[in-house]
Amino acid sequence: MNVLITGGAGFIGANFVHQTLVRHPDATVTVLDKLTYAGNEGSLADLGDRVRLVVGDIADADTVDPLVAQADVVVHFAAESHNDNSLRDPSPFVRTNLVGTFTLLEAVRRHKVRFHHVSTDEVYGDLELDDPAKFTPTTPYNPSSPYSASKAGSDLLVRAWVRSFGVEATISNCSNNYGPYQHIEKFIPRQITNLIDGVRPRLYGAGENVRDWIHVLDHNDAVWDIIEKGRIGETYLIGADGEKNNKEVVELILELMGHEPDDYEHVADRPGHDMRYAIDNSKLVSELGWSPRFTDFRSGLQATIDWYRDNESWWRPLKAEVEAKYAAQGQ
Ligand code: NAD
Ligand code: DAU
Repeated sequence: MNVLITGGAGFIGANFVHQTLVRHPDATVTVLDKLTYAGNEGSLADLGDRVRLVVGDIADADTVDPLVAQADVVVHFAAESHNDNSLRDPSPFVRTNLVGTFTLLEAVRRHKVRFHHVSTDEVYGDLELDDPAKFTPTTPYNPSSPYSASKAGSDLLVRAWVRSFGVEATISNCSNNYGPYQHIEKFIPRQITNLIDGVRPRLYGAGENVRDWIHVLDHNDAVWDIIEKGRIGETYLIGADGEKNNKEVVELILELMGHEPDDYEHVADRPGHDMRYAIDNSKLVSELGWSPRFTDFRSGLQATIDWYRDNESWWRPLKAEVEAKYAAQGQ
């Protein structure tokens, strides 16, 4: 089996490459990744000759077409993924997330290749803190940021290519991931690496916003389950019942790293900041039998902290630039 993994040098994609080699000992993997600021070749180091990295753009049909022609399945992770960046400059989000997904869809249509589209719960907008509801596969789309709007548009392209052209595709919408190889612009690794540097964590606004945390390896197990057992044309929501507000997460990071729980700073809030995400995973659990392995957030977070402590050479070159960008907007 030849698996084409777009965005395989990013956070979730790189973990997926590692997991694929174990789950499918017969598989060869081709990673198509542009190596933007978010891609890191170091995340794919020492994986041997079953993995080939092609540096290229998913929006470039001449690059995409021959790679798709050789693939048995395309797993599409590549995206511009950070909300704060989409507020500074939305243009790469439209190009990569929309034109890139369109380009891949046209190639899988031409070559009749199975496609899995990795998406986000942010397409559904947000929930009130006191709302008993969670997102389900039938929740109406209502994205808030340029990032989530571009992902919503990409999901709708996939649905249309399934219905109009018979493309064999599935979609997954997952909640917030944490774990190794996550870019340090994101919430959890930013605070861990700040503390390693002796800098206080930064909480947007009051810190009451809730995210539904899942370990990246659990997300990726679900993606493989969907590819292997999911029904074509279906959308599966991936989440592990991990709702926590940002203040709780920062306090836990502080405690696990030996600091007082109130040793953080409130900084400027994100414009349009979604209040709460929450996933109803019952379709994934009942239809495909998926269950999360990392159910203890405290130990998952401790392992993640250890990973950033042990792998400073992976993130150190990124830190100054990331913090300069945040400082420029009072964050
Ligand atoms: P990431 O930013 O860490 O990685 C994205 C990767 O895509 C990088 O390696 C980058 O170089 C590559 N890329 C960007 N533009 C490209 C292009 N035009 N052509 C080829 N490669 C390109 O992102 P991530 O957090 O690993 O997210 C991966 C996917 O999962 C995204 O589609 C995202 O929307 C989705 N997702 C993420 C989360 C999360 O919590 N991080 C949750 C749900 C869904
Ligand atoms: O829900 C899935 C989404 O989760 C994915 O689609 C996105 O790709 C991924 O980046 C993530 O989006 P968020 O915007 O929720 O993640 P982020 O890590 O940027 O922020 C998490 C929460 O923490 C959010 O409420 C904003 C807040 N935050 C973030 C940073 C970087 C802070 O309070 N301080 C910070 O320094």
